[in-house]
Amino acid sequence: MIGAVPDVDLPFRTASGDRVTLRKAVDLDLEPLVDMRSDPVGRRHLGGPVPAERVRELLTTRSIDWSTAGAGQFVVADAGTDEMLGMVVLERRPPHRPGHVVDGGNELELSYALRRAHWGKGLAREAAELLLREAAAHLPDQPVVVVTQVANSPALALAERLGFAHAGTFVEFDAEQWIGSAPLSTWAD
Ligand SMILES: CC(C)(COP(=O)(O)OP(=O)(O)OC[C@H]1O[C@@H](n2cnc3c(N)ncnc32)[C@H](O)[C@@H]1OP(=O)(O)O)[C@@H](O)C(=O)NCCC(=O)NCCS
Repeated sequence: MIGAVPDVDLPFRTASGDRVTLRKAVDLDLEPLVDMRSDPVGRRHLGGPVPAERVRELLTTRSIDWSTAGAGQFVVADAGTDEMLGMVVLERRPPHRPGHVVDGGNELELSYALRRAHWGKGLAREAAELLLREAAAHLPDQPVVVVTQVANSPALALAERLGFAHAGTFVEFDAEQWIGSAPLSTWAD
């Protein structure tokens, strides 16, 4: 059995930025989540699209809360309309997976995904910076990593724009992965 991975100890459930809000999932997010997880382009480097009907069934069976049950899992919503645009997540990267920058693993790992209609507007960057700033205000300094397929150029470009420095490459899921790292204090006030 694989050992339990500690959750991220983040004591907030919402955060407000200029154009985006971070919040937990609500029932109205169901179809936007289906849209995001069933999009063949958006899911190209994330294991492929999941059929819309399957996502809908899963989210209905488990309840929408399940999508953001982890303390570091947030819906990115439009600050004006509250429409769900995507998700940003801070989790711990479990030691049993490849790709680490410290012995023993469990580093903070940032991931991000927006619905395709909202790419190219700087919204993912704003959401990621908001989450990192809030995390830096609540957690001790420690390394944060981003892992993305080398072929995923929009995700890699965003990691570099955020300030993550190349820390290596490795193979997982039959694909070459890039790992970037930055101290959480990068986003401290
Ligand atoms: C990775 C992903 C979130 C990046 O989204 P993105 O919109 O390209 O990222 P940003 O928020 O940084 O936006 C940058 C783009 O917005 C443009 N932009 C427009 N207005 C802007 C503004 N006000 N501020 C900043 N950038 C702005 C930038 O010029 C840039 O455009 P370019 O890509 O043509 O150079 C998106 O491609 C995605 O959801 N992919 C699928 C999921 C995935 O693979 N996730 C990776 C797992 S870690």
